[in-house]
Amino acid sequence: MKVLKWVGIVLGSLIGLALVAGVVLYFIGDGSVTASHADETFEASALGTADVERGRYLVEDLIGCSGCHGDDLSGVADLMFEFEGQASPMGVLPAPNLTPNGVGGNMDTDGWVRALRHGVGNDGRGLVIMPSGGFATLSGDDLASIIAYLESLPPAGEPVGGRSISTMGKVALGAGLFPDEYKLAQGVEQVEVPRAATAEYGAYLAGITCFDCFFDLSDWSEEDFRRMVSEGVLPDGSAVDPANPDDNPWENVEEVDIDAMWAYVEAEYGG
Ligand code: HEC
Repeated sequence: MKVLKWVGIVLGSLIGLALVAGVVLYFIGDGSVTASHADETFEASALGTADVERGRYLVEDLIGCSGCHGDDLSGVADLMFEFEGQASPMGVLPAPNLTPNGVGGNMDTDGWVRALRHGVGNDGRGLVIMPSGGFATLSGDDLASIIAYLESLPPAGEPVGGRSISTMGKVALGAGLFPDEYKLAQGVEQVEVPRAATAEYGAYLAGITCFDCFFDLSDWSEEDFRRMVSEGVLPDGSAVDPANPDDNPWENVEEVDIDAMWAYVEAEYGG
């Protein structure tokens, strides 16, 4: 009986602790969702030479903003739904329409910089899942070029609705299961490295695209890597994106960038 009593006490304490942890995480997540950063000022960003074609390449071919913001960057009503194929218990998270029919209509350069580099939406909310923590390193030229391309977008689609993160979504956010990008973007410096087939430039590309986040690249050969980028096929022959097997997200990435990515993979993961 004594043993049972102790098992009960231990289990009870564990459940109690889990509840306390859940409540703490909930409040952390709730704080992230409700905080307003509208009045926050950030250190000025370097903005270099804007080149619309370079911006198009970064947005469409290299980073693939449309993977979340939808075709024509005209927005996706619920990204959680899109990711999981059914309504998510985490709540609803739209990826805004970036064209003049959506948030693009209310953005100025400062607004784009705040979203891209500091994780702050144009209503002051801290952004989640939007990878601002990675984009924060964008060089002055690349940042200016992306903004110039976004400002050149033709109007498309309708504005999307607001986000609504559920209690479970807030606990998950508090636990870091999906990223609070406002927090991740704080204090990140811009990176200026010349575009060349170097590991250093590859590291910059990894930072802004996360190309190395999705697979364990440690035992890949150069051939495996180049095949993934040029054909969208993994070493075991399966598609990079099983949901769209005919779609190769990196098919238009230019040679110098692929060389730089491989140089980085070799240096970082041993190749
Ligand atoms: C992994 C998915 C994902 C990718 C990739 C992504 N975004 Fe986002 N983006 C989001 C989500 C989700 C939001 C809204 C987040 C929220 O409301 O908390 C957002 C918000 C934004 C906002 C703020 C809009 C507003 O309401 O003020 C801008 C601007 C933006 N994204 C631009 C971009 C650009 C440009 C790129 C590519 C360089 C990009 N995003 C790539 C998911 C993504």
